[in-house]
Amino acid sequence: MAKRPRIAVIGSANIDLTTFSDRFPKAGETIFGQKFDLGFGGKGANQAVAARLCGAEVFMIARVGSDLFGPATIQNFQKQGIDTTHVKQIGGVSSGVAPIFVEPDGQNRIFVVKGANDLLKPADVDAAADLLKTVDCIVLQFEIPLETVYYTVTFARKNGIRCIVNPAPAQPIEISALAGLDYFIPNESEAEAITKMPVRSPEDAKKCAEKLLANGLSGVILTLGSNGSVLASRNGIEHMPAFPVKSIDSTGAGDAFIGSFAVFLGEGLPEREAVLRANLYAGLSTTGVGTQKSFYDRARYDAQWAMRSKSQ
Ligand code: RIB
Repeated sequence: MAKRPRIAVIGSANIDLTTFSDRFPKAGETIFGQKFDLGFGGKGANQAVAARLCGAEVFMIARVGSDLFGPATIQNFQKQGIDTTHVKQIGGVSSGVAPIFVEPDGQNRIFVVKGANDLLKPADVDAAADLLKTVDCIVLQFEIPLETVYYTVTFARKNGIRCIVNPAPAQPIEISALAGLDYFIPNESEAEAITKMPVRSPEDAKKCAEKLLANGLSGVILTLGSNGSVLASRNGIEHMPAFPVKSIDSTGAGDAFIGSFAVFLGEGLPEREAVLRANLYAGLSTTGVGTQKSFYDRARYDAQWAMRSKSQ
């Protein structure tokens, strides 16, 4: 039986307010949307839920606000079986929220108001240090202060803990602060923003991953939506194809990829296979509406993998 990985996510928790419409309104224009969905989201929380659904033991380190979303978010983690010892509610600030707009082809546009997520500081990482030293992998994103991300990457390196950084949403970064990082996982637009290189095809993505790798990162994975992903590491650079799915909402697909990848790797699978499996997990998440609620549990996922991996 595969080892059950222990994964810590140091990251954001948001409430997602998703509107489905034919198009995005122009300035000064009001249009009707077709459908609305309220759900638990935030890149950190989504990655934690994906990892948990894939079977890991998951520890969340996060901050929520003093509004009705704060306790609801903590309850949601607990309902999923995620440890919330280090999720704290902060007075006088809102929880993170994300108005999301999804167009008919399933593509999304997201605003994030960070709220309490912005108050997750290096001191909070220190407060969780004893726990963090026991995990197999730490997962970070950019919806918390960058100083906390850099601090945690250094902490992970010092303590020999595998670390994954998802630079989302894209921001100007000091890539040298991430030197030695195990996996840096941007999507196309994040990779473009960080490297200033166009990423319009798997070939572009390979060049971009090569450039990122040259900055001292140990591994880079570019997620490319329906084009799969590109894996770049000391073993070489390879395009890993996606599995065909009927996509209706791609929101959270990157999070599904990262949470599941951390688990597959933690179970001891070779990184190439872990990426291929995460491609399928992410693809399946786009066949349902919303983020966390569109993620497959392990049994449903394994059934799909058993069926589809033969044809890959
Ligand atoms: O990656 C999807 C997530 O981005 C949403 O859940 C939203 O909260 C934003 O953080």
